[in-house]
Amino acid sequence: MKNALVLGGTGMLKGLVLKLLDEHFRVFVVGRDAAKFSRLETMAGARAPYLTFMALDYHELGRLEQWVAHLQLMHGPLDVVVAWIHGEYTGVVETVDREVGLYRVSPWDLYHVQGIRASVSSEPKPAVAPNCRYHRVVLGYADVGSQTRWLHHEEIVQGVYDAVMKRRDAVVGTVEPYEGRPG
Ligand SMILES: NC(=O)c1ccc[n+]([C@@H]2O[C@H](COP(=O)([O-])OP(=O)(O)OC[C@H]3O[C@@H](n4cnc5c(N)ncnc54)[C@H](OP(=O)(O)O)[C@@H]3O)[C@@H](O)[C@H]2O)c1
Repeated sequence: MKNALVLGGTGMLKGLVLKLLDEHFRVFVVGRDAAKFSRLETMAGARAPYLTFMALDYHELGRLEQWVAHLQLMHGPLDVVVAWIHGEYTGVVETVDREVGLYRVSPWDLYHVQGIRASVSSEPKPAVAPNCRYHRVVLGYADVGSQTRWLHHEEIVQGVYDAVMKRRDAVVGTVEPYEGRPG
């Protein structure tokens, strides 16, 4: 069984967690609110035994590091990490990469889900170890004729899922023109 970690998996990426369970991943989810996780657990139904939650603020890097080490000791190395991270950039991706690197030497895949601003940002990709295949998944907007709108959760989930299944970078929806994004 492969192991996946989804940071921020109790929000708009809930559907991705369920799809990964369907793909026979054991899925680890990080969030702060256990009630949100309970709802996800209910949605998982018979797949819930393969779902594990850790209530923590991922900006607390020491706690994140300890938990990622612990889960790998118990269940083996992570194969896939999906990171949807809020707020100031504080090195969450690098922390997870370092911890995974302690448990595996073979290649693994990290999907960094980012908002549309990433499409116009010159921020370099995080410095990750050579065995980490870093993929950027940028969430854009939907262009529906004369109007634009933000993506629905199902569209976001499908776009991230496709990126994971095809092991590639992706733009979900469109990011151009940047000025065309919904207000
Ligand atoms: N391009 C687009 O169309 C686009 C892009 C981005 C967002 N959106 C929309 O915007 C809405 C709001 O986005 P959102 O990101 O706020 O919602 P979200 O994905 O629904 O929630 C964020 C997720 O991250 C977790 N989280 C947040 N901060 C955390 C922290 N410090 N430590 C650990 N976990 C943390 C949350 O759990 P806890 O609260 O339990 O910590 C939750 O699981 C989305 O529902 C989506 O519809 C659209």
